[in-house]
Amino acid sequence: MDYPIRTVCVVGLGYIGLPTAATLASRGVEVIGVDINPQVVDAVNAGQPYFSEPDLDMLLRAATTLGKLRATSRPEPADAFVIAVPTPFNADRSPNLDYIDAAADAIAPVLAFGNVVILESTSPVGATERLAARLARLRPDLSFPPGRHGEPLDVHVAHCPERVLPGRMVRELIENDRIIGGMTEACADHAEAVYRIFLQGEPICTDAPTAELVKLAENAFRDVNIAFANELSLICDQLGLNVWQVIELANRHPRVGILQPGAGVGGHCIAVDPWFIIASAPDRTRLIRTAREVNDAKPKFVVAQIRERAERFKRPVIACLGMTYKPDVDDLRKSPAIEIARQLARAGEERILIADPNLSALPEELAALSNVSLCDTLEAVRRADIVVLLVAHSRFRKIPREELMRRVVIDVTGLTHGYG
Ligand SMILES: NC(=O)c1ccc[n+]([C@@H]2O[C@H](COP(=O)([O-])OP(=O)(O)OC[C@H]3O[C@@H](n4cnc5c(N)ncnc54)[C@H](O)[C@@H]3O)[C@@H](O)[C@H]2O)c1
Repeated sequence: MDYPIRTVCVVGLGYIGLPTAATLASRGVEVIGVDINPQVVDAVNAGQPYFSEPDLDMLLRAATTLGKLRATSRPEPADAFVIAVPTPFNADRSPNLDYIDAAADAIAPVLAFGNVVILESTSPVGATERLAARLARLRPDLSFPPGRHGEPLDVHVAHCPERVLPGRMVRELIENDRIIGGMTEACADHAEAVYRIFLQGEPICTDAPTAELVKLAENAFRDVNIAFANELSLICDQLGLNVWQVIELANRHPRVGILQPGAGVGGHCIAVDPWFIIASAPDRTRLIRTAREVNDAKPKFVVAQIRERAERFKRPVIACLGMTYKPDVDDLRKSPAIEIARQLARAGEERILIADPNLSALPEELAALSNVSLCDTLEAVRRADIVVLLVAHSRFRKIPREELMRRVVIDVTGLTHGYG
């Protein structure tokens, strides 16, 4: 069935909400972007992305110039509502649904008959049902799912998780297959109508709790597999073997595909989402919990490796190359590289030079430390006794080999594997 979608209100204009809003607007939909951060609202209205993501600036400028995307601080009536607010965890690692609750409270007054509400935020199983129940309490004049058996609903609710890769978001938003978890079949149909506006990948309809767990399972799968690679790196260190070579050769097996180890696991998703599964089935998640612990422990191991190599210098100068949580982005959220630099600097003995081509200032966590300074990459390498490669930014491949090889190099990225 055809459900016309002329206006969409996107709540939360961050890494997910902003590309989604701009993409919908580029297809001619009237988009109202909502964010509680006034600086975000101003930047979007000026047509300027406030984080770096390929092609987003072009898309956003076109959307605002054509008048199809407008940002504001409060939701306005629309045909569809897309919620893309943060879902962090609490101090005890249970899911924090406060942002979703706040978004529900904000949209409730403007909801109307025929609307669809889509939760895009990564959510624990049951969050979509909880959202619908909250909306139903706030708007007793409208019917929400699950509803009475067989009766049509006034407002439809679905969970459609996002699985785009930072650095390729604009493309993947359109091309990836999309899981559409409707609270009822009609809910899935209504949500699908929104994605049909721009989707080239396949829309795959299921129920909301399955969609919730699918997204969490995807990230837990990545986490467990990275933990395997990180554990291999510890084993190889003890046995005096080259982990990059071991993985490269093992992957020549036609049914083996070991991922790459690194400084740990950071970012907003993989380091967080597995905890949502653990919270919902604590007695049945031994592997997922252990993987989290293995990955969280990697920064401490890297610091110990650096300290060991630094012992022979009186007051070593240590260049830490790369601070973001992954290569070729400017996102610092939960970055293990920052944690490593912070732990190194805390002793106060070392001088730490930070170099990251994607940053123009020191990360907040390091800015106040007197023995830490930001440097150009080559300058950092030249001034350092020890060079630690923490993130595999492609620009680091241009560092002349001979400059690197003159120093003590600790490479947790594999960039120098094969330099000889
Ligand atoms: N970043 C990613 O790569 C990625 C990938 C897949 C899924 N996700 C998930 O998508 C969701 C959003 O993540 P993100 O990276 O876009 O977060 P983000 O922090 O970049 O953006 C969230 C935005 O929501 C705004 N906000 C918070 N509460 C609000 C409210 N009540 N009303 C309006 N705006 C509000 C914030 O000011 C912020 O601008 C999370 O659940 C995340 O786990 C993120």
